[in-house]
Amino acid sequence: MYGGISRVVALRRSVLTDVIYHIEPIRNISMKAIKIRDNIYWVGAIDWDLRNFHGYLTQRGSTYNAYLVLDKKITLIDTVKHYLCDEMLERIRSVIDPSSIECIISNHVEMDHSGSLPVMTQIAPKALIYASPNGMKGLTEHYGIIPNLKAVQNGETVNTGSYNFTFVLTPMVHWPDNMVTYLPEEQILFSNDAFGQHIASAERFDDEYPLDIILFEARKYYANIVLPYSEQVKKALAAASALKIDIIAPSHGIIWRKNIGSIVSSYGDWSANKTEDKALIVYDTMWNSTKKIAGAIADAFEERGYPAVMMSLQTNHISDIMTELIDARYICVGSPTLNNNMLPTVSSFLTYVKGLAPKKRRGLAFGSYGWGGQSVGQVEEILKACGFDMMESIKLKYIPDGTALKNITEKLADEIAGGQ
Ligand code: FEO
Repeated sequence: MYGGISRVVALRRSVLTDVIYHIEPIRNISMKAIKIRDNIYWVGAIDWDLRNFHGYLTQRGSTYNAYLVLDKKITLIDTVKHYLCDEMLERIRSVIDPSSIECIISNHVEMDHSGSLPVMTQIAPKALIYASPNGMKGLTEHYGIIPNLKAVQNGETVNTGSYNFTFVLTPMVHWPDNMVTYLPEEQILFSNDAFGQHIASAERFDDEYPLDIILFEARKYYANIVLPYSEQVKKALAAASALKIDIIAPSHGIIWRKNIGSIVSSYGDWSANKTEDKALIVYDTMWNSTKKIAGAIADAFEERGYPAVMMSLQTNHISDIMTELIDARYICVGSPTLNNNMLPTVSSFLTYVKGLAPKKRRGLAFGSYGWGGQSVGQVEEILKACGFDMMESIKLKYIPDGTALKNITEKLADEIAGGQ
């Protein structure tokens, strides 16, 4: 067992990059490939301890899904993060000798999927590597010259014997290089980042794991990774609608084989920016005055029959707030003033929201202040820069009393009714 370790150690000196490979074995039992179809296996890696994916809180960990397809020419689709390369190799080795791989399809340059490619080029030096034109450029920029790297065009097909892999370029879902790979003979779409979720689990398929959790994590993934590229998602969905799909095999999390309609329809809603009459009230507070205003705002929405979700930045991670934001029509953001500015937590949240670029929302800035009171105007400016249709800001000095809070609720309830 772990015959691969010494080989990876030997390869460290000759890999194409200076990435440091994690080489300590942490498991003593053999890690197996999981069969998807007779000739097709999941050979990915499970990142049980991942809690931060470039700023996104991944409470359930994640997987990096690589797939092995046995044919006259053996094909590997995507790889895994560099520090889990040994796990992928071990799973491949449970089916075939990794040096017998003749084709590698790289659907995406980001290192969670390409990080073990340099090692694979050493283990299977004659393998042809297929990527989109931008993928070819990006892989070269990441790892230097890669032998046998070929660019494929949209709609191009590669034959491996019985199978014809067809490539559909999906730029900006999630980098310029992305593509998905369709295997018509098995009706499997290897969708890379699209339709993925950050879930580490022993289960691989959507009929083996609670569907509500998979859909929740897919929604969180969309809100935090895919949202800015919704226009490109629409095009990708249109291209996918022409394909017969029996299995969607994403590169993170659970494989879809039973509930394909649910995830495709959710992507349709999210990419169409379908929102509900729901208010998301995000705030931080110093002495609870801004929190009291947040409560008065929630009362106004409830009075109009809209659900209002209150999320303090002291107790909620910004990536969890985005999961709630994705279908909320009203985005209300509050901050007191500290040292002539909004609180840093609010600033951080607004920077994150602006980058993820949700569209067509109504915005509301609010907060309490002592003397300068700059925070509310600053919040308002950023919400405006997001393109939101702004409601009248709410700004109160020191501690709002019961009458002031009642006034906020009544006035805002009227404004909501007027904007319906
Ligand atoms: Fe899972 Fe854009 O990488």
